[in-house]
Amino acid sequence: MVIHTQKETLVKALSSVAKSEKIGFVPTMGALHQGHMSLVNKALGENDLVVVSIFVNPTQFNNIADLAKYPRTPEDDILLLKNLKGNVIVYLPEVSDLYNDSVSSKKYNFGGLENEMEGKHRSGHFDGVGTIVSKLLKIVKPNTAYFGEKDFQQLQIVKKLVSIEKLPVKIVGCPILREKNGLAMSSRNKRLSAKIFEESNIIYKTLKEVQEKFSYTSIADLNALVAERFLQNPYLNLEYFEIANEKTLKTAKRKNKGSKYRAFIAAFAGEVRLIDNMPLN
Ligand code: PAF
Repeated sequence: MVIHTQKETLVKALSSVAKSEKIGFVPTMGALHQGHMSLVNKALGENDLVVVSIFVNPTQFNNIADLAKYPRTPEDDILLLKNLKGNVIVYLPEVSDLYNDSVSSKKYNFGGLENEMEGKHRSGHFDGVGTIVSKLLKIVKPNTAYFGEKDFQQLQIVKKLVSIEKLPVKIVGCPILREKNGLAMSSRNKRLSAKIFEESNIIYKTLKEVQEKFSYTSIADLNALVAERFLQNPYLNLEYFEIANEKTLKTAKRKNKGSKYRAFIAAFAGEVRLIDNMPLN
């Protein structure tokens, strides 16, 4: 496994890869867990070489404290990746390698996808994601890039980004991996106390209940049910619950035949913000 900290050396190494070889790419912000490893393993199974980037991107954080507290475990990350069988290249840059003089993001129009859910609650977040993913895809030039479905809105936005910028890469979404108690795996889980970790399974349990009841319950009743479940739990604060059209990500008020719906939750477990989602039909 080779580690590059500078894009110049990474680009040079990748330029010597034969055209017939397939390059997979897994962009991450580090603090790797089994969810990330499932993406890397899938990429290894489908490509000759896999680039994993580890970079906590400052422009996608709308909250300075969240950026400062984001878990950073580069040594552990490298150990995990070293144990894999296969051709892995790690890109572990400093901020200055990806942002020259100004650490700022480009303004994007993702056709409205950016204005729903996370977009409403994390101003500028998707401009930051679009900026960094675009930069990384242009450096790595992979055949295929892999993103987790936990960040379902991000996945849809990245697909839109590559179509807007006409980047020749296939974007693959990968299923959410869960802890034993159902909590979606996330780097942020490292910040939860044992008690809050256990209580946080209310997110999964509630999504599951909504999924089970979706076919015979109105959206208004499901919204009320979720609000009630969270009111009963003193450890988690619901930021939003939405049932949205899977394609447009627009809030659904009622169910239309032929449309696909997904339920989305963002909640604070103490100071830690958790998100999750589940398909409904
Ligand atoms: O999902 C993430 O970890 C990040 O948003 C990404 C895609 C690596 C961009 O910084």
